[in-house]
Amino acid sequence: MRIDKLLANQGFGSRKEVKKLLKDGSVTVNNEIVKDGKTHINPNDDIITVFNEEVVYKEFIYLMMNKPAGVISATEDVRERTVVDLLHEEDIIFQPFPVGRLDKDTEGLLLLTNDGKLAHQLLSPNKNVPKTYFAVIKGMVTEDDVEKFAKGLKLDDGYITKPGKLEILKSGPYSDIEITITEGKFHQVKRMFAAVDKEVVFLKRISMGPLLLDEELKLGTYRELTDEELLMLKDANQKD
Ligand code: URA
Repeated sequence: MRIDKLLANQGFGSRKEVKKLLKDGSVTVNNEIVKDGKTHINPNDDIITVFNEEVVYKEFIYLMMNKPAGVISATEDVRERTVVDLLHEEDIIFQPFPVGRLDKDTEGLLLLTNDGKLAHQLLSPNKNVPKTYFAVIKGMVTEDDVEKFAKGLKLDDGYITKPGKLEILKSGPYSDIEITITEGKFHQVKRMFAAVDKEVVFLKRISMGPLLLDEELKLGTYRELTDEELLMLKDANQKD
């Protein structure tokens, strides 16, 4: 990889800024000052410094966001604010994208990464990655609903869902529930409740596979996955 490309990818500025860094003699490769941006380096073997600080090369980025309502799960949009608009410039340069979608009005755990392979595995229908949501439902959720969800429900387009695990936290005119599903059909949770004549009035994803939403994250903020979280995620994905 070219040194100027690596430095731009790692957030050392625009191509022009990187060119100046190199020209000024601020960049070394294996203890030698390198001024030519075309110099080829191996980011895994060569030791690169900028202003005497070692550049720790990172190819992939894995971010856990607590998505707020009001933004869409996309990388760009002409009208709407997207989850990528909530990221800092130093993370945007890695070109992360959301893994799957949460509706505009849904909150909670959203993973963003530029690791296409991991994203693909997480979204693969064969992997049956469980996703758990907390929801407030308009209407009294009953044990009868729990059974119907466990059997699978017929959605408005005739699709029969895989079983969903519904847990009632509080039943009343407005009920609090948790639901775990292993699919990700469009508006799935809302449509499953519509199938039992009830309406989701608040929806928040609280887990995805082994990842749990970090409740310390305020709405609209995010952090990198810890090494442990990433390991758990990759391990879970390897299993069928
Ligand atoms: N199900 C929905 O209906 N909406 C979401 O955002 C996620 C799951």
